[in-house]
Formats: sequence, structure tokens, C-alpha cells
Amino acid sequence: MRGSMATKHFKGIIALITIKGGAGKTTLAACLGAEFRKQGQEVTMIDADPQQSLAAWYGDSEPLSNITLIANAENTAAVIAQQQPGLVIVDTAGFANKTTIEIAQIADVVLIPCRSSGIDARQALQTVALCNEINKERSSPAKIKVVMTATNRSAIVRHVRNEMIAAGADVLGCEIGQRTSYPEAELSGSAPCLMGKTAQKAADEIQTLSIEILR
Ligand SMILES: Nc1ncnc2c1ncn2[C@@H]1O[C@H](COP(=O)(O)OP(=O)(O)OP(=O)(O)O)[C@@H](O)[C@H]1O
Ligand SMILES: [Mg+2]
Repeated sequence: MRGSMATKHFKGIIALITIKGGAGKTTLAACLGAEFRKQGQEVTMIDADPQQSLAAWYGDSEPLSNITLIANAENTAAVIAQQQPGLVIVDTAGFANKTTIEIAQIADVVLIPCRSSGIDARQALQTVALCNEINKERSSPAKIKVVMTATNRSAIVRHVRNEMIAAGADVLGCEIGQRTSYPEAELSGSAPCLMGKTAQKAADEIQTLSIEILR
């Protein structure tokens, strides 16, 4: 593995991947990028989704202008490889296209966001299975981690989490709550860690996520 998880400043590729659209990939990519930058890391953001949602989020953003964004690359996997050694966060499409497979082949950490429903859980587990298959061909496999997103206090969240764990998924202890701070961050081209007290809860959970995914 290129990156060392033990060092404070991780260098490697974190890819947001799931075949379920709307799970929260772009939101987590954008917020994690800002969080790692705030922690003093040089971060390169890669938008590998044809919809270019991350590019729109970061595009004209003044608060995020100190973070490098690469969008619309012709050969995304090659461009990611060129950024090594370095911290690279990759946002992918809401379905498994060729580019997503290539990214899963080189990522150090695959982060799979999952909302709390049976459909979301099944598709997250399919994504875990896909990445496990890809890992079999790799000499240094990616860490594959699921994070529950847009959670609330309902029993469904616990139920879906337990089902995923029972199916063998590595589900992170931290959760990303259902919060207006996330769409607000997108609308204002910012991120919770830059938005002050109004987004403190979101900022705290993204910081916790940034630590937990590198364990
Ligand atoms: N934790 C959250 N709380 C509230 N809203 C959220 C949260 N996470 C994501 N959203 C909202 O859900 C919608 C989908 O999120 P996002 O675009 O990040 O998903 P995605 O997986 O990137 O989707 P796609 O597959 O289309 O690329 C957006 O409107 C976003 O603001
Ligand atoms: Mg997206």
C-alpha cells in the first residue's frame, strides 16, 4: 500500500464508491476534502462522475479554493496515479462504470455510503462484494468500509447497520446524520468545517469520519 495509515498525514487514495445513486458520495467527498485540508493536508479532489457534481460544488467556491480539483479527466485512473504520493479523494458515478472499476483497483480506502433502507443496504452490500472481487486481483488490497449516512434516531438505522455487519461488511462506528448543514454546504460552495457554529454537529461527525476511515 502506498499510504501509511499510521502516519498523521495519510497519503493515498480514498474513493467514494457505491452503485446506489444518491447515497451521499459527493457530499462526503466534498466535506472530507475540506476537513483534511483544515487538518493541514494537501488534498487533490478528483471528480470521476460524468454528472460532475463535485466540480460544481468546488468550482467557483472561494472557501474551497485552496484545494486542488481535477475534473473531466480523460483517463481518470492515470491522473490519480500521477498525484501519488499525496492525499487524493475521488468521487465516482452512482453506478459501476469502467472508471469506477479502475478506481477500485487502485484505491487504498473504498468508502461506501449507505442510507437506512433495504434497497440501500442491498446495493451497498453488492458494492462491497464487487470491491472484494477486485481486491482478490490486488497484491495490496483496499480497505473497504461502509458508513451509514443521513441517519436519524429510528430503529431502522440500527436494523440496517446490524444486517450489513451480519453480512460481513466493515461498518464504521461513526454515522453521518440527516442534517440540513450538508445541502446548505453544497448550496454555498462550502463545507461544515468552514461554516462555524451552525454546522458544528456536521463538522464534528466529518472530523470523526476522517479519523475512523484511516484506522
Ligand atoms: N447526511 C445528509 N443529510 C442530509 N442530506 C444529505 C446528506 N447526505 C446527502 N444529502 C443530500 O442527499 C442528496 C444526494 O447526496 P449526494 O449528491 O452526496 O449523493 P451521491 O451519492 O453523490 O449521488 P449520485 O449517485 O447522484 O452522485 C443531496 O441533495 C444531498 O444534499
Ligand atoms: Mg454524486
